[in-house]
Amino acid sequence: EAPRCPVVAIDGPSASGKSTVAKSLAQALGIAYCNSGLVYRAITWGLIAKGVTIEREPVFKTTVRQMKIECQIEGNELHVRIDGKEPGQEARSPEVNAAVSHVAASPWLRKRLLPIFRQLAEEHSLVMEGRDIGTAVFPATRYKFYIDADPKVREQRRQKQGETDSIEDRDWEDRSRTAAPLRCAADAAFLDSSRMTVEEVVRRLLDELRKRGFPL
Ligand code: DC
Repeated sequence: EAPRCPVVAIDGPSASGKSTVAKSLAQALGIAYCNSGLVYRAITWGLIAKGVTIEREPVFKTTVRQMKIECQIEGNELHVRIDGKEPGQEARSPEVNAAVSHVAASPWLRKRLLPIFRQLAEEHSLVMEGRDIGTAVFPATRYKFYIDADPKVREQRRQKQGETDSIEDRDWEDRSRTAAPLRCAADAAFLDSSRMTVEEVVRRLLDELRKRGFPL
């Protein structure tokens, strides 16, 4: 059940610092960085581009079924293509921000994406970040972390990234949905990054990986 290649799972809420840390850790380990949120964003972007109103599951199910969703590791990074096209910066547009957690709440879609995420670890060692990587996507990996930060600190970090819309609604949706909600896996190492620099967090993760026997 464990992935063929070693997988480091990093979960946590938005703006907890996990993306920055995950990228930096992947670089330190010389393995691929994989942002699973990008897949949900790319699909949401594809739906918006097709003019599909994202309300509840049945509305977008048909469209998603017809979409060609491709996930590939290129140059140690995940690339997502929807019907052959990458969303680029549009994956972070306000429209996508507002709709993505509705899309991500679909149990049907999440189930469909599982094999796509797992396939990546057949050929590549990965640092994968998201909300349910340690709990649902790679529950069998020994290397898992949950990174959190004070809501105030997270709001500040988000604003620094130039994003103005509130992360509160999205967080609430991610935590309260029934399909793979955001939570810390029982066997994950928990880290509060509120008062830590990126370097400090990465060092802690590397220490923990060593303790857990990661092939460094
Ligand atoms: O990490 P992010 O902000 O790019 O994630 C975008 C949305 O996708 C967010 O609402 C949470 C959701 N998501 C998810 O449900 N499961 C994941 N593994 C990753 C992201």
